[in-house]
Amino acid sequence: MKSKRLRALLLCAATLALTRGYWARAADEPLDEETKARIAKFEQGPVTIDVSKYPPGIQENYEVFSAKCTQCHKLSRPINSNYALPAEWERYIKRMMRKPGSGINKDEAKKIFDFLVYDSVVRKKALYDETLAKASPDEKKAAEDKVKEIREKYDKE
Ligand code: HEC
Repeated sequence: MKSKRLRALLLCAATLALTRGYWARAADEPLDEETKARIAKFEQGPVTIDVSKYPPGIQENYEVFSAKCTQCHKLSRPINSNYALPAEWERYIKRMMRKPGSGINKDEAKKIFDFLVYDSVVRKKALYDETLAKASPDEKKAAEDKVKEIREKYDKE
């Protein structure tokens, strides 16, 4: 009896693992050359971020980011990307969530978003400032309000 249940359980786990792999691969639709080159450049950089000086809540969110965003590609892809504004992160996280088999829920997406916004104004400060300088007044205001909200939430921990 026990071993039968165990076998059924193992079969379930194996099926799940296989279908997950299938969907992850299916998400790899053909990309144009420009996108491919951009992504290849992102992936050349580091695969981790030193979060030891970040607030505890942001360190926890980093764990969610590194678990969820490494299912289909290396973490170096988002880490070294040239996205820095909250609106850019929102767009890319939503895009990744929509990919079949991503398994990212709303709560996890929010944690990943908070992490990426926080990290962008600390580690990627120069890029953030440069991008902000090119943004429209509305985009600038939206970005600054969001950054303020997130910094206030985590910095006071
Ligand atoms: C289900 C698979 C999957 C998961 C999970 C996933 N990605 Fe992706 N990601 C892809 C694919 C496929 C591409 C290339 C096609 C594209 O950009 O849509 C990509 C591309 C990217 C790019 C480069 C986009 C560009 O065009 O410059 C970034 C940045 C990125 N992902 C960040 C993330 C982040 C952040 C997460 C976690 C929230 C994540 N990915 C989770 C599949 C995934």
